[in-house]
Amino acid sequence: MSNPEVPVLTLDGPSGAGKGTVAGLLSKRLNWHLLDSGAIYRVLAVIAERAAVAMGDVESLIDITHSMTVTLQVDEHGKSQVLLDGADVTASIRSEACGERASEVAALPAVRQALLQCQREFHRPPGLVADGRDMGTVVFPDAIVKIYLTASAEERAYRRYKQLMEQGISGNLIALLEDINARDERDRTRAVSPLIPASDAIIVDTTGKPVEAVVDLVLSQVRRHVIFAD
Ligand code: C5P
Repeated sequence: MSNPEVPVLTLDGPSGAGKGTVAGLLSKRLNWHLLDSGAIYRVLAVIAERAAVAMGDVESLIDITHSMTVTLQVDEHGKSQVLLDGADVTASIRSEACGERASEVAALPAVRQALLQCQREFHRPPGLVADGRDMGTVVFPDAIVKIYLTASAEERAYRRYKQLMEQGISGNLIALLEDINARDERDRTRAVSPLIPASDAIIVDTTGKPVEAVVDLVLSQVRRHVIFAD
C-alpha cells in the first residue's frame, strides 16, 4: 500500500448491493476521497468502444489504461460525477450495455493489472473510501476496515429498475434480474480477482435496510479504528 498512514475503507460486493450510494455518502461524512473502481472499468469500456478496440485486443486496452485520466467528484448529496479528461461522462457510463462491456474488460487479467496503479493513486490524505469488487482482496489488502455489502438478487434488480426509472429510462425487471445474475456469475467465477469477500471483511446484508442505517453501521466500524479530531 502506498501510504500506510492514510486509512482506507473498502466496500466490495455484487452489482446493486448499494455500494455506490453508501460509498458516496461515507466519503462525504468522513471527508475522504472516493474511488468508484467500477467507473474506471466503465470508462475504459467506453473509450474502447469509441475507438473500436475489440475486447480481445488486450495490448490496445492496456495502452488506453495508460493514457486515460479519470477524475471522480462527489456532490453534497454523496452523488458522484465521473470526468474523463475533464469531460463529464457520468450518464454515458451508467447504461446497462456499458456495465456489460466493463464486466468483459474486467475479466482480462492484464487489464486488471494495468489498472492497479491508476486505482492506488486515489489513496491520498486524509483517507479513501474505495468501492468495487476486489478493493479489500487485491487493490487495498491493508485497508483498516473492509465491508462486503450484499443483498438478494431480486432486491438488487429492483433497485436498478428504480434507478433507471429516475433517469427516465424504462427497464424490464425480469431482464434486469437475468442481467444481474449473469454479471454476478461472471464476476464470481473469473480467474483473476473474483468477487469474493476478503477473509477479514465484515459482511453486511442490505436487503430491506435503509441506506442511512447501512452508512451508520459502517461508520461505527471506521470509528473503532480511526481517531477523529472532532
Ligand atoms: O460497480 P459497477 O457495476 O460500476 O462495475 C461494472 C463492472 O466492472 C462490474 O460488473 C465488474 O465486472 C467490474 N468491476 C470489477 N472490479 C471492480 C469494479 C468493477 O471487476 N473493482
